Amino acid sequence: MKVATTIAEVRREVSAWRQEGLSVGLVPTMGYLHEGHASLVDAAVAACDRVVASDFVNPTQFAPGEDLESYPRDFDHDCAVLEEHGCDLVFYPSVDEMYPDGGGKTDTYVEILNDMPKQLCGKTRPTHFRGVCTVVSKLFNIVLPDKAFFGQKDAQQLAVIRKMARDLSYGIEIVGCPIVREDDGLAKSSRNTYLNAEERKAALVLSQAVKLGQSLVADGERDTRKVVDAMTQLIKREPLARIDYVDAVDAITMDPVDAIDGDVLFAMAVYIGTTRLIDNFLAEA
Ligand code: PAF
Repeated sequence: MKVATTIAEVRREVSAWRQEGLSVGLVPTMGYLHEGHASLVDAAVAACDRVVASDFVNPTQFAPGEDLESYPRDFDHDCAVLEEHGCDLVFYPSVDEMYPDGGGKTDTYVEILNDMPKQLCGKTRPTHFRGVCTVVSKLFNIVLPDKAFFGQKDAQQLAVIRKMARDLSYGIEIVGCPIVREDDGLAKSSRNTYLNAEERKAALVLSQAVKLGQSLVADGERDTRKVVDAMTQLIKREPLARIDYVDAVDAITMDPVDAIDGDVLFAMAVYIGTTRLIDNFLAEA
C-alpha cells in the first residue's frame, strides 16, 4: 500500500490506474480506524479494482468547542488496518494541503440549502454538514472515483452526500454499508474510545433503544411518535445518558414523518457523560 500526502501524488497514481482501465473506489475516513471502517474497505475492494482511503480529520466539519483537537489519531494503526484489508493507496494530507488558505479555513463551501442538513444532527451542529459536503466534494474532485463508500451509522451524512452527489452531477455511485456493532450491540465509533468503563456500560442504552424500536415496528406499530416515545423513555432511565435527539424522518429527505408509510429512519444522538454518540435503524413500509 502506498501513502500519498499530496493531491498531486494521488492524481498521478489514480491516472496511471485509469490508463490501465481500472475502476477506483474511495473510502473517506477521519482515521482511528475500527472494524466499521474496515468493512467499508472490504466493500470497496470487492467492488472496485483499486481502492483509495483518505485519512484526514477535517476541521471544517467541527464547530468551535467540539472535539477537533482531541479527536483520536493513530496513523500507524490506520495503515496496518488498511493494508490488511487490501487498500491500495492512503491519502494522508496535511490541513494546509486540503485548505491552502491556511488554518483549516476556506472561503468556498459546498452546502445543501434545503432543510435536510438542519434536521437531526444539524439542529445542534448547524455547520457540520457544510464541512462534510465541502471536504467530500474536494476528495471526489481529487480522486475521481467510480464509487464511494460510507457507513449507515452516519445515516444523515450518507443521505446528505447522496443528495450532494446527485445535485452536482458527480456521476459517482454512493454505496451505503451496514452498521458494524460490538458483540454487546454498541455501534462501532472512533468516539467510543472517550468512554470510561461505567460510561461504556451506559452507552448500551443506544443499541437497546434501537432494538426496542425495531421490535415495536416489527410488531406492527406504524405511528412514529409512539416508537420515538418508547425509545426516549428507555434512554431516560439511564442516569448517565442525556438525549440530544431521538427522531423519525423520511429516509431520503430527512423530513420529519408521523407514520411509517415509506422508508423511515429512526435516529438518535445521546450524550453519555460528555461523549456524543449516534445510532439508528431503518424501518421499511
Ligand atoms: O464520516 C466521517 O468520518 C467524515 O465525516 C468524512 C465522511 C470522512 C468526512 O470528513
